[in-house]
Amino acid sequence: MIKLENVSFKYKNSDNILNNLNFEVKDGEIVAIVGKNGSGKSTIGKLISGIIKLKEGNIFIDDVNIKDDIKSVRNKIGIVFQNPENQIIFNNIYEELSFSLKGLEKEKIEERIDDSLKKVDMSEFKDSDLYSLSLGQKQRIMISEVLAKKPKYIIFDEPTAMIDSKGKEIIYNIIKDLKKEGYTIICITNVADEILIADRTLILDDGKIAHEIKKDELIEKSNILKQFDIKEPVILEILRKLKENGIDLKSKDFTVDELIENLKGKLKNEKHN
Ligand SMILES: Nc1ncnc2c1ncn2[C@@H]1O[C@H](COP(=O)(O)OP(=O)(O)OP(=O)(O)O)[C@@H](O)[C@H]1O
Ligand SMILES: [Mg+2]
Repeated sequence: MIKLENVSFKYKNSDNILNNLNFEVKDGEIVAIVGKNGSGKSTIGKLISGIIKLKEGNIFIDDVNIKDDIKSVRNKIGIVFQNPENQIIFNNIYEELSFSLKGLEKEKIEERIDDSLKKVDMSEFKDSDLYSLSLGQKQRIMISEVLAKKPKYIIFDEPTAMIDSKGKEIIYNIIKDLKKEGYTIICITNVADEILIADRTLILDDGKIAHEIKKDELIEKSNILKQFDIKEPVILEILRKLKENGIDLKSKDFTVDELIENLKGKLKNEKHN
């Protein structure tokens, strides 16, 4: 569990960015955090992962207050940033991935690297040069670097902002698979599609959570997203307008295929009645 309690934060010479912020992420959840540019989303990610120091309020990671033991927190949390190119240190993928595993036996390092590359479907690139990869592939390597450290929690900070649509979809699917494996995930985003894979979406405004939207409330509450400059995903717009016209289709995955199946089911039922 990650728990933020009355967290306030300002940078030197900045106004207050976070104002008495409170929220919780339960084990096994994917929680999306959205908000306008400059609303403090990345600041939250950096505070939770211990990159910047918390002063006011408390952050608990599994009941450990990060003010008391920042080291153990850093081992439990991995963070993936927007631009993989800013994170890469080495050109060689094996070197890049083993860098943060220093201290482990060689065999263990090999095992961790093999496992984590498999999770992002990049095994065949183990001996490749990072600079020869596409941005989407580089991002998958950055995700595997985080996975190799075996964190319990992963924070994604706009992981697909720079990546083309095909690459985006691959990364959404990786995030969904990581949830299935039991990782607890915070996905900071302003891309509507990333909201669709979250169990809950928290909207950050004025330094605190202005709204919480659970997955099964997305259709009825998708108008709230628009108020915060988040483009309503097309699939939500369709589901919302169908609902407004008396056709209420529940959705779990928010995919076109699911929508068609549900629509077919509905039409069949109506024929029988
Ligand atoms: N190191 C810093 N020093 C001073 N001000 C900062 C620093 N980092 C960020 N800020 C300011 O703090 C505010 C919040 O920044 P943050 O990066 O957390 O927002 P964000 O919601 O992630 O924005 P974006 O959508 O652009 O990524 C912004 O006004 C930003 O300019
Ligand atoms: Mg940001």
